[in-house]
Amino acid sequence: MSFAALWESLLPIGRDGSSGGYRRFSWTPEDAACRAWFTRAAAERDLRVLTDNNGNLWAWWDPPGSPGPGAPGGSKAVVTGSHLDSVPNGGAFDGPLGIVSAFAAVDQLRERGCLPVRPLGIAAFTEEEGARFGVACLGSRLLAGAIDPGAARALADAAGVTLAGAMAAAGHDPDGIGPADDLLAAVGAYVELHIEQGRALADLGAAIAVGEQIWPHGRWRLDFTGRPDHAGTATLADRRDPMLPFAAAVLAARQAAASHGARATIGKVTAEPGAVNAVSARVCAWLDARGPDERTLQAVVGEVLAAAREAAAGHGVELAAEPESVTPAVVFDQGLRERLASSLAGQDIPAPLLPTGAGHDAGVLAARVPAAMLFVRNPTGVSHSPAEHAEPADCAAGVRALATVLEDLACR
Ligand code: GLV
Ligand code: MN
Ligand code: MN
Repeated sequence: MSFAALWESLLPIGRDGSSGGYRRFSWTPEDAACRAWFTRAAAERDLRVLTDNNGNLWAWWDPPGSPGPGAPGGSKAVVTGSHLDSVPNGGAFDGPLGIVSAFAAVDQLRERGCLPVRPLGIAAFTEEEGARFGVACLGSRLLAGAIDPGAARALADAAGVTLAGAMAAAGHDPDGIGPADDLLAAVGAYVELHIEQGRALADLGAAIAVGEQIWPHGRWRLDFTGRPDHAGTATLADRRDPMLPFAAAVLAARQAAASHGARATIGKVTAEPGAVNAVSARVCAWLDARGPDERTLQAVVGEVLAAAREAAAGHGVELAAEPESVTPAVVFDQGLRERLASSLAGQDIPAPLLPTGAGHDAGVLAARVPAAMLFVRNPTGVSHSPAEHAEPADCAAGVRALATVLEDLACR
């Protein structure tokens, strides 16, 4: 099956008809449909599918006569992949482009007559976006031992459903989650193809880039607790309105990001009880902050929290601030990066090196296995939005680049 047919078959799952955006959250019916799609795509290619203890999916192309990844005497595997979940109302490409391209690259390797000499895997990591349970890259974090399994089981979604409850309801045993050292030890390299989430490639006039590094980034939850009151009668002086320090935090985020050459965003907020004619009791906001280095990130977060605390104190509001997921800076494995660059150069595929402010499973796995990334041009740079786009010719270039890299890593 061609890239286009695979792509079309995935497109309807979790798509909102009016906005064109996607809502594919982990352990929901849409997630189950994505998993069924993955399993079908793998079966059509005679790939062996397994779901690991953390709910991540793996499709294996075993070399002829191979005992399989991780078996004694077997060689280390080459794995590619990405994620199928989305942010709320996200685009079609963020995550799925890497998985569809992986299956299409397997087809291309077969058309080229290549046979792997080491196991070749395609992985789909669960809850990369953290859209349901709040922690980014949850599936790869669990796999790599970067989050405590008990803490992960207790994570709750907006309706109070825990990860453990959601997994169990979807038929997956939550008691087994946690690091899978044997599985990771069997992986010699992980290469993730992803749509670029910026427009550097468009500006450079290139279709493909090799990922260089990921900015350190994280999410902080800010709970502002005030006193609910009547919007018409409570005097301004008497109010303890949590919306006001929240507003100060939003403005401080913008200010701190601008002054440090960083990014800081408050894109999610809830107000309780949510009455038009009442001062809120509580405002919960999530700060997403990213910077070119750890010191800058700390400075940005420190300034936003200081401004929020000062404004909260000035309005008689309590503030509790907690990190929800923090990912250190990642520089991708230099040897693997150079190998990608030289195999692409060998096929006359121009591929500049690009850093990114977006988080990826490859960034989490980089702490445990040599990892690298390929980016595919996004003409507007818009991402986490229904407007996210990559041209078909660039998607085809991505498949060719991925097949070239996989041929070099897995077939020689
Ligand atoms: C994932 O896309 C992230 O960077 O938040
Ligand atoms: Mn994303
Ligand atoms: Mn992604």
